Amino acid sequence: MNPFVITGSVPDEYFCDRRDEAERIIRTVTNGDNLCLISPRRMGKSKLVDFCYGKPQLRKNYHTFYIDILHTKSLQEFTYCFGRSVFDQLATKSRKTMTALLACLKSVNAKFGFDPVSGLPVFNLELGDIVRPDYTLSEIFEYLEHADKPCIVTFDEFQQISKYPEENMEALLRSHIQRTGNCNFIFSGSERHLVSQMFLASARPFYHSASIMELAPIPLPEYTSFVINHFEKGGRMISEDVIKKVYDLYDGNTYCIQKTFHEAYDSVSPGQECTLSDIVSVTDSILEENGTGYRLMLSEIPTRQKELLYAVASEGEARHITGVNFIRKYSLASSSAVQTAANKLKNMDLLTVSDGAYHISDPMFRTYLRRLANPSLRLID
Ligand SMILES: Nc1ncnc2c1ncn2[C@@H]1O[C@H](COP(=O)(O)OP(=O)(O)OP(=O)(O)O)[C@@H](O)[C@H]1O
Ligand SMILES: [Mg+2]
Repeated sequence: MNPFVITGSVPDEYFCDRRDEAERIIRTVTNGDNLCLISPRRMGKSKLVDFCYGKPQLRKNYHTFYIDILHTKSLQEFTYCFGRSVFDQLATKSRKTMTALLACLKSVNAKFGFDPVSGLPVFNLELGDIVRPDYTLSEIFEYLEHADKPCIVTFDEFQQISKYPEENMEALLRSHIQRTGNCNFIFSGSERHLVSQMFLASARPFYHSASIMELAPIPLPEYTSFVINHFEKGGRMISEDVIKKVYDLYDGNTYCIQKTFHEAYDSVSPGQECTLSDIVSVTDSILEENGTGYRLMLSEIPTRQKELLYAVASEGEARHITGVNFIRKYSLASSSAVQTAANKLKNMDLLTVSDGAYHISDPMFRTYLRRLANPSLRLID
């Protein structure tokens, strides 16, 4: 098996580092507090939650739920996903829990039943069946309140709720969360400006309701020994220097580096060393593989925004993007046009601002753009 896992869940032996982070998460939720986990895309939030859920302290003593709400657009969809997850996790455990759930979810209980042949519980809930999502939501919380074990609930991509049309969404959810004594929550999100505003702005319902944890890249020394160790176990060799080049190319973004070493591992046979030129060709083919998707995305973006994307990509960290120097250097239209374009790109999550500096959110996309702007560019040397 390839030790650099990039799809599905990551078995513990192939999970790199994150000891301190996992310990802090587990400590926080088992102490009765809530946690807000923030990082750029694909840094490893979801897998880290997964990893913590697998640890005995949580696995044995808690019911754990994981709800990814990235694709949801309203309170109705939120409630649907939440209900579905609670059902899938709990009700299938025993007829007793199923019956208890049934008794609580009065607003939708016509959709529950037992399969006459197999005797297994079935839940034929459709989105449209949730006519009064606020009722159903209260019922789900009510049920968790009386579950036979304390519960930990993760809402992944939590920033999504700030985009729902319901104006009181945050207040509504906050009031349920405040009231429950049996659940603790992990709110995880990748759009930093949205998530941090939800928890740090004093006027917002979630203000101060969770401790904030920013997930940084896995440190280079930890990652280096992880890679060397797994190459050696597979009878392959690789040098520290080569690992550092990949890490730097992608600023340590977990997915990008794992993807590269996944392919690199397969590209060398046991007994061989993975060299810099192997890495160069692996990187080229990964960019090519992603190119179709990237090109499709670029074709939908208006010229002014695209120009700004290229400019930010070649800069890496772009400051004063509405200033004369930046505009002149990259032949952009005007200060106000740059501002408008930047806002659009930020809303699409293609650009991220942190501490006044703009960068391309996805480091792989940034690398692709740099190459596109300068085809002879050597990304790694
Ligand atoms: N500690 C780790 N060890 C090994 N691989 C990891 C680790 N953390 C994450 N990965 C790998 O990185 C990829 C991205 O991780 P994950 O999906 O958890 O990121 P995320 O921050 O939730 O991203 P998104 O914001 O897109 O949801 C995963 O596919 C996984 O293979
Ligand atoms: Mg995730």
